[in-house]
Amino acid sequence: MTKQIIEVENLSYKYKDATDLALKNISFKVQENQWLSIIGHNGSGKSTLSRLLNGLLVPEENPDTKIVIDGLELNSENLWKIRDKIGIVFQNPDNQFVGTNVQDDVAFGLENRNVPRSEMIKRVDAALSAVGMQSYKNAEPQMLSGGQKQRVAIAGIIAIEPKIIILDESTSMLDPEGRNSILKLIRKLQQQKGMTVISITHNIEETLHSDDILVLDSGKKVAQGKPEKIFSNMEMIKKAGLGLPFIYELKQELSKNGVEIPSDVSTEEKMVEYLCQLNSKM
Ligand SMILES: Nc1ncnc2c1ncn2[C@@H]1O[C@H](COP(=O)(O)OP(=O)(O)OP(=O)(O)O)[C@@H](O)[C@H]1O
Ligand SMILES: [Mg+2]
Repeated sequence: MTKQIIEVENLSYKYKDATDLALKNISFKVQENQWLSIIGHNGSGKSTLSRLLNGLLVPEENPDTKIVIDGLELNSENLWKIRDKIGIVFQNPDNQFVGTNVQDDVAFGLENRNVPRSEMIKRVDAALSAVGMQSYKNAEPQMLSGGQKQRVAIAGIIAIEPKIIILDESTSMLDPEGRNSILKLIRKLQQQKGMTVISITHNIEETLHSDDILVLDSGKKVAQGKPEKIFSNMEMIKKAGLGLPFIYELKQELSKNGVEIPSDVSTEEKMVEYLCQLNSKM
């Protein structure tokens, strides 16, 4: 049986001095061990939502609003227990650095959680190797490139092994190869450790492998569902100011030419397979 790990009900948020709400009455659920992608145009509220989930931002008091993380209601009493469960890799890696060198930085979260020193060294080394930054362990974080900073920020979170990991555009500065290898690493952790992943991304191709996609548009939730469902709704995607993954563009073009591709053909690999067997029948 799947367990619900995040439950959000009627969540709104307005920044001080802002005229409009950044989030408008959002409700959604996430099952444990799932990969949820959050997509939406610039300013649609994605980062705001991630900061509300771990109590970095606090919504106005409202009896209808509820945020429950792993069975705990988010309130001042449970705040630190909840922060222990969620690791966020922030959109701008510069906002994440606290240590004077890379390894201290990665160790920071472990120190806060009173992990014994010998265990800490092992976990820092393993996390830095996993993201390919072992040889930079004594470097100053400010000296790193944007992509290297993102790798270190990710190492800092995976060292903690939180139950929930939130990636806010965390691989945006990496090249496609680097991005793929980091995403593969996170997927492996998700599978091996039963982690739940929330990935906020502008890279629409990346969302194809998610279990679930949440679409935000100007602070409102406009859709949630499996990739096939989300990307079959062209009108909604267009209205939300988003593009389609290549495979769905291709489906559309083929459909215009009278070739209908079944809905379960939802990845590039499946498409290649399908087109090959179609070709062999002709
Ligand atoms: N600190 C702040 N003070 C006031 N308004 C803010 C603040 N941070 C964000 N906003 C506003 O809240 C809205 C949602 O912003 P948010 O950063 O959550 O969007 P986003 O979906 O993460 O965008 P992006 O894709 O550009 O990262 C925007 O209108 C933004 O201008
Ligand atoms: Mg953002």
